[in-house]
Amino acid sequence: MQTVSAPLKKVLITKDEIAKRAKELGEEISKDYEGKLPLIVCILRGSVLFYSDIVRNIKTPCNLDFMCMASYGAKTHSSGKVRTLLDLREAIEGRHIVLVEDIVDTGLTIKHILDMFRTRKPASVEVCTLLDKPSNRTTDITPKYVGFTVQNEFVVGYGLDYNELYRNLPFIGVFNEDETK
Ligand code: PRP
Repeated sequence: MQTVSAPLKKVLITKDEIAKRAKELGEEISKDYEGKLPLIVCILRGSVLFYSDIVRNIKTPCNLDFMCMASYGAKTHSSGKVRTLLDLREAIEGRHIVLVEDIVDTGLTIKHILDMFRTRKPASVEVCTLLDKPSNRTTDITPKYVGFTVQNEFVVGYGLDYNELYRNLPFIGVFNEDETK
């Protein structure tokens, strides 16, 4: 059988490191939201792998819902224009929301969601992201739960893609764009 291979400069975060951090974050969220029945929202598509690990590590009752947002297209940088491809099924008035992302980069995707939520009156909204890239931020978004802070490098794997490839890698690697030229 063929194994998935990608043009990588290096492996940045291993499968075991991700599993350990997802467990820690799940436990933290469980404690913070005990008795609050939070709505844990997956921001498709990139966060799907991380989301499934996070929700399995949340030990307090919660509800699950999904949104699909797009800003990158086929590029390695944000287009700056965020589109909502799928909205929540649940009403969120009075609910405690945790948005689960694979990466907060410019912060435009999260800002767009927070703007959308303004009229829906949730009780609270926090962000749980596997990766935080604060050096690239153009908004004042600060995720409460962060798996790993990364440098301004293009990363793939564990949900993150380049041209829709490499999302199924079980680890995070730094993509080598030179090999695609
Ligand atoms: C990626 C990622 C985040 C967003 C982060 O999504 O999954 O949602 O970009 O970037 P930002 O902070 O600069 O907005 P993308 O639009 O590539 O869609 P995808 O999840 O389908 O890969």
